[in-house]
Amino acid sequence: MTAHLIDGKAFAAGLGDRIAAGASDFAARTGRAPGLAVVLVGTDPASEIYVRSKGRMARKLGMESFEHRLPADTTQEELLALVAGLNADAAVDGILVQLPLPSPLDSRAVIEAIDPGKDVDGLHPLSAGHLVAGLPGLVSCTPLGCLMLLRETLGSLAGLDAIVIGRSILVGKPMAQLLLAENCTVTMAHSRSRDLPEKVARADIVVAAVGQAEMIRGEWIKPGATVIDVGTSRVLRDGRTLLVGDVDFAAAAERARAITPVPGGVGPMTIMSLMHNTLVAACRRRG
Ligand code: GUN
Repeated sequence: MTAHLIDGKAFAAGLGDRIAAGASDFAARTGRAPGLAVVLVGTDPASEIYVRSKGRMARKLGMESFEHRLPADTTQEELLALVAGLNADAAVDGILVQLPLPSPLDSRAVIEAIDPGKDVDGLHPLSAGHLVAGLPGLVSCTPLGCLMLLRETLGSLAGLDAIVIGRSILVGKPMAQLLLAENCTVTMAHSRSRDLPEKVARADIVVAAVGQAEMIRGEWIKPGATVIDVGTSRVLRDGRTLLVGDVDFAAAAERARAITPVPGGVGPMTIMSLMHNTLVAACRRRG
């Protein structure tokens, strides 16, 4: 392997120290800790784990964690009433409703009900609009974490050719906007894109967020490129379950200048970006 490993775990730990200092400063100024409310509807095991780790991390960094667990048969009205209560609660700076919601709940309507000033997930249409317009707002956590890793690895991104593979609202679309704001020339590719290998081969920065195990082949990567792998898929190999990304890591690491591992790359940055957004939301609300 020739590529430098981008250590998201170590970077997230350093960022966590700075956020903890910021949270302590906020508490000294305002007499209360920044507050993060996380809402979980139903008992999806993966969501349970995410919600528990978000609460644990918030408390570790000196924030208040409010966890709301609702049964799977919660009605849309009940969920909207909870969100309205959290919007009005002065102790709550950030609100995250864990997705996916059980059917038939309408996640779009729930997200739109969140006060945009408390939208630490960056999923409200106003947050997305602010990002496109270049206005200050809260940016969704995974792309924000990817951008921090890219800046740490490359310094200025200006003028670089970037490709984002995947066009989800959670990752691909905001990622492309962030890279554009950094003065990259951005290609957005997706499942209908033609000639993907040629497009990837032109990119100095590859952000893979398609959710398909090892779909991006190592030989597509331009020598010296920086590769950010957002994917996490479980695959069975030699009788063992392994976590792999969207990029064929071993082959890509022979060509790239720097690459994120899976696990230990983007993952730890996502939760730390949520903590960052909660502190930012608290400071914006309280000055
Ligand atoms: N489920 C998986 N990832 C996310 C996320 O970033 N935000 C929310 N709200 N739900 C998720």
